[in-house]
Amino acid sequence: MRPVTELIDQRIERQARRIVQNSLKNVPQNAEYDALQQELKTLRNRQRPLELFFDETGRGSSRLTSAPNLDRAISQLAEVTGDRDGAERNVAQAFRLLIAMEALGVGRIAGGTMNIVGKLSAVPLLDPPNDEILEIGTLYGMFGAALIRMMERTGRDPSLTIVDPLAGKQLQPGAAVGKDASGAPVREAAVRTNLALVGAAGAGARIQQGFSEDPEVRALLSDRSYGVIIVDGDHSAAGVEADLQWAEQIVAPGGIVVLDDFGHPKWPGIKEAFEKHMTGDTRLKFLGQVAHSGYLRAEA
Ligand SMILES: C[S@@+](CC[C@H](N)C(=O)[O-])C[C@H]1O[C@@H](n2cnc3c(N)ncnc32)[C@H](O)[C@@H]1O
Repeated sequence: MRPVTELIDQRIERQARRIVQNSLKNVPQNAEYDALQQELKTLRNRQRPLELFFDETGRGSSRLTSAPNLDRAISQLAEVTGDRDGAERNVAQAFRLLIAMEALGVGRIAGGTMNIVGKLSAVPLLDPPNDEILEIGTLYGMFGAALIRMMERTGRDPSLTIVDPLAGKQLQPGAAVGKDASGAPVREAAVRTNLALVGAAGAGARIQQGFSEDPEVRALLSDRSYGVIIVDGDHSAAGVEADLQWAEQIVAPGGIVVLDDFGHPKWPGIKEAFEKHMTGDTRLKFLGQVAHSGYLRAEA
């Protein structure tokens, strides 16, 4: 047995030596690994405050979008508006504006990044027939303010009318809406502050507290034909249908109606109301969809 055991011993010794040599070889590698770990930690710590410009903290939705999302929105915008160069330019400008408005304003803009950027980009590119804009459901007025800025960038003189209950928090029939992610109460003072961020046109905006289906509200706001109507108030099918019926009466010939949250899985009532509405007698023609908004144009 001795030659066999000697052979085994030799093999074990060779293995042990190899292990020791390898572990010695790893000493500098381990030091390098530790240094890399430390560098990564430092970078992560530095990155966190930069992420605060874009992440969901304090606004509910992250603004950190991706190249494919941007490209998709640009393609959809190009299809709806027929202006690819304009779509690329407006998407970049609207994205920067969204970040800036939420950084400076009270509250937030509601919804996903590409949906907001899509609306801000599409409306000026669709070249509405006049500068009267009606926003049904404004929350903090920040989207309306941003839209004023985007319209002015194309040489327009927007005049904004807003209707919203401004009841301290978002009201949504049939949906449980908790405390807002921004922590800010929904009130007229917040809307005014946000509108003031975009200069004279913002400061001059007309704010009507109330519900869009209220006959008194309708009588007050039906004093003009609107080149743009943003339907973003009551998201139930009945609420959207009521807003679409009112829009038929007050939209200018060739005017644009934007249906927010169109096709959004959380708000099935919007598409349901649209489909029902389009089977009836209507002045509106569907232009297409960008992210979760549908665009319609009234016949000229
Ligand atoms: C989704 S938020 C609007 C978001 C805003 N357009 C934006 O882009 O940030 C919906 C708003 O509509 C309001 N609202 C609910 N029912 C309404 C109604 N019948 N008429 C007008 N506004 C209504 C809600 O209280 C809320 O402020």
